[in-house]
Amino acid sequence: MKTLLQINTSMFVEGGQSTRLANQFVHAWRASHPDAEVIVRDLGREPVPHLTAERFGAFLAKADDRSPAQDEALAYSDALIDELKRADVIVIGLPMYNFGVPSTLKAYFDHIARAGVTFSYTANGPLGLLSGKEAYIFATRGGLYAGTALDTQTAYVRDFLRFVGIADVKFVYAEGLAMDARKAGALADAQRSIEDLATAHEPVALAA
Ligand SMILES: Cc1cc2nc3c(=O)[nH]c(=O)nc-3n(C[C@H](O)[C@H](O)[C@H](O)COP(=O)(O)O)c2cc1C
Repeated sequence: MKTLLQINTSMFVEGGQSTRLANQFVHAWRASHPDAEVIVRDLGREPVPHLTAERFGAFLAKADDRSPAQDEALAYSDALIDELKRADVIVIGLPMYNFGVPSTLKAYFDHIARAGVTFSYTANGPLGLLSGKEAYIFATRGGLYAGTALDTQTAYVRDFLRFVGIADVKFVYAEGLAMDARKAGALADAQRSIEDLATAHEPVALAA
């Protein structure tokens, strides 16, 4: 039985365009994986706190040296990582806010990047420890960025996921959502890509 982890990051929660696209993918994917377990982590509804020195210290300290607050912080990070480890498929709804990823996603990444747990350094450089997973990213933007130098979001998310071992990552974009002339077409194109991806047995080519 497969497990899918859906991470929503829109501040608009269920009303977000990225959440809706992620929901559409999960709905279509479920049709061909009826026994699958789907876990939803909504960072808009329940934001992950910013990483602080105390929290980061909890990741490094020996058990005897941790404060009660650090025990709690470590358990919180462990729970996020356990959830991620269980997932075969990861779906992320990814709006662009002020040229970057939602700060809630950055905070989530800060809590799952753990040396010796999700990555390690070897003589040959970093080694991601979360192998064997595939990820689907549903990126929504008011403007047009895909394929340009202004799209730092795509490289950041792809590089971070690869760093922790998730190298099979596909992006679907819905861009120009603030442009009346483009919005409907962009959402329709994204929905077609979603249907193809959710039902594909072989990888499909998508603009990245
Ligand atoms: C606070 C805020 C900042 C935004 N910044 C950008 C931006 O830098 N570039 C862009 O193309 N769109 C920007 N947008 C538009 C969103 O990317 C667009 O509305 C997207 O659909 C939001 O996804 P969501 O509905 O899932 O939250 C911004 C929207 C908000 C609310």
